[in-house]
Amino acid sequence: MLQIQQNISLKNFNTFGIDVSAKYFVEINRAEELIELFMDSQWMEMERLILGGGSNMLFVKDFDGLVIHINIRGMEHRINHQQVLVVAGAGEVWNDLVNYCVNNEFAGMENLSLIPGSVGAAPVQNIGAYGVELKDIFASCNAFEIATGTFKTFSKADCQFDYRDSIFKNDMKGHYIIVSVKFELSLVADVKLHYGAIKEELINRGITEPTIKDISQVVSYIRVSKLPDPSTIGNAGSFFKNPIIPKDEFNIVYEHFPEVVNYPAGDGFVKLAAGWLIEKCGWKGKVVGHTGTWHNQALVLVNHGGATGEEVYRLSSQIIDSVYSKFGVKLEREVNVVD
Ligand code: EPU
Repeated sequence: MLQIQQNISLKNFNTFGIDVSAKYFVEINRAEELIELFMDSQWMEMERLILGGGSNMLFVKDFDGLVIHINIRGMEHRINHQQVLVVAGAGEVWNDLVNYCVNNEFAGMENLSLIPGSVGAAPVQNIGAYGVELKDIFASCNAFEIATGTFKTFSKADCQFDYRDSIFKNDMKGHYIIVSVKFELSLVADVKLHYGAIKEELINRGITEPTIKDISQVVSYIRVSKLPDPSTIGNAGSFFKNPIIPKDEFNIVYEHFPEVVNYPAGDGFVKLAAGWLIEKCGWKGKVVGHTGTWHNQALVLVNHGGATGEEVYRLSSQIIDSVYSKFGVKLEREVNVVD
């Protein structure tokens, strides 16, 4: 029998550590429990929030509906020649899955080491770091369709992955709950070293032929040195997306700021480093009340202790405004704002 709890604090369920409460809260440990949950029409009609690791969320106020915490566990693999298919429950901790794969020498997700969050949330925003995105190793996922009470498999094409984006953030938002994800990895490593910081750190360590374990360790080291640890300083990783703008708009920015950090982003578009834009507006390391930006990475907003979601949100609006007035570029929030 499912236990629906009432008035539960979400402080330990979001990596920002914002202390809000949920009117109703249920933990799902097996996919079939979702069928049971939605047999009761009151939950079908109520406002809902699907919560994994809560690592990409900003709660601005108490949640006046049902929080569904996905805690579906399990990791298994099947080897077929050099290909490895790994299936993981949506509630597994992402980095536990990375460690499982790296320790078994299944190559492909080592660059995604130490990203906070759950396996089920990973496809929703197509997590990415150090030159690899989830879509590069994604095979399919199984999701519960709330309206019909049935399970459906989404192929890679179905998911419409893009930079920090997928169909689950758009057309299918709120309609499906991911219960498991299948990854396609390999026994033969094809290490991705094009990200400058990885190359540099491998040289520092005197490693010329890195294994996937080396990459995983180097990526973890870089993340720890640059990004705040959510278990001590509340944060949700990059708060904004790196903006992708048309070439002609970029030319105007470039004319005034030739040192702007930028990357090619497909035909006629350029991606800018939001952290750089924010730093140039003077925000890096600034403390504003209980919140602020991280001293090593201006793209990350932090909770220095006791911040409210509103406070963090207000700071993010000030940052958007100042980047816009200096560069004419509109930053978009990457975290999900729940208000
Ligand atoms: N930069 C600055 N000032 C800053 C921060 C960055 O000048 O305060 C410059 C850096 O010097 C560098 C460039 O901006 O030249 C890029 O910085 P970094 O390598 O730290 O990566 P990022 O673009 O800021 C993205 C992802 C991260 C991911 C890293 C590494 C987004 C929104 N963020 O950050 O993902 O870990 O690349 O691949 O795409 C996340 O999504 O939560 C996240 C942490």
